[in-house]
Amino acid sequence: MSLKHKAFITGASSGIGQSMVAAYLAAGYAVEGIDCSPSVFASEPDYVHHQMDITDSVRLNGVFEAAEYASDNNVLINCAGTREICRIDELSLSLWERVFAVNVTASFVAGRAFCEQLVRHHRPGNAVNIASVSGLMGEPDRTAYVSSKHAVIGLTKQLALEYGKHHIRVNAIAPGVIRTPLTEPYYDNPAQMEKIQRGQFLPVLGETQDVAKAAMYLTSSDARFVTGSTLVIDGGWTIGKDL
Ligand SMILES: NC(=O)c1ccc[n+]([C@@H]2O[C@H](COP(=O)([O-])OP(=O)(O)OC[C@H]3O[C@@H](n4cnc5c(N)ncnc54)[C@H](O)[C@@H]3O)[C@@H](O)[C@H]2O)c1
Repeated sequence: MSLKHKAFITGASSGIGQSMVAAYLAAGYAVEGIDCSPSVFASEPDYVHHQMDITDSVRLNGVFEAAEYASDNNVLINCAGTREICRIDELSLSLWERVFAVNVTASFVAGRAFCEQLVRHHRPGNAVNIASVSGLMGEPDRTAYVSSKHAVIGLTKQLALEYGKHHIRVNAIAPGVIRTPLTEPYYDNPAQMEKIQRGQFLPVLGETQDVAKAAMYLTSSDARFVTGSTLVIDGGWTIGKDL
């Protein structure tokens, strides 16, 4: 039987990426996950795991060169990410470069390889880059992360512009605070939680499914006229400041 739906998901082993894998498997997609950690979905029949560092660009390109592409829809979710919390005067160049290698360069390498393979095989598809509200505004002690997420939004527009003529759409999602292992320390800190709740204008906490559902929309035909955009999923974090 020919493959109808395929999704490639980086950062597939934790948090938002793990939720993406669950959502695309439930929607009947064959999923290839990429992450440096093992996956809880490893024994699922429709799941293939590539355990690797996504900054290995030769190996990352190889995943897209070797893959089988589907007839109805192919999806790439660039979700792997890392961030520093570090004063700007203490931020080393090597940490800055590491954050950019994971968040920006790997998204570029995977995004271009995916789009090129779709063009080569004449297959339909589209990509979503997981940016952040940190791609829309500054934040103390996160200079590399904030700069890298602004770059992810720029990369999204550029890939959308370059591959639009091939009917390939590329969009970004900018999540606010979502409960995952990355943000788990916030949830044990009442002062931090108060700050988060004051910073949002909806009295609701963000969950990984909020981001997975947005990706399902952006990668579906319902979003056929949407490209180069950034969908903000943040409970109102970026709409204004509490005076
Ligand atoms: N959680 C939030 O509040 C939040 C908010 C905005 C944006 N984001 C973004 O969402 C994405 C996912 O974040 P999360 O909260 O689920 O984080 P997470 O730490 O739970 O998951 C990140 C995953 O990426 C993988 N990864 C990191 N570096 C890698 C590398 N070099 N090679 C292979 N895999 C690597 C990790 O192993 C992990 O499985 C990130 O891009 C993050 O910046 C998260």
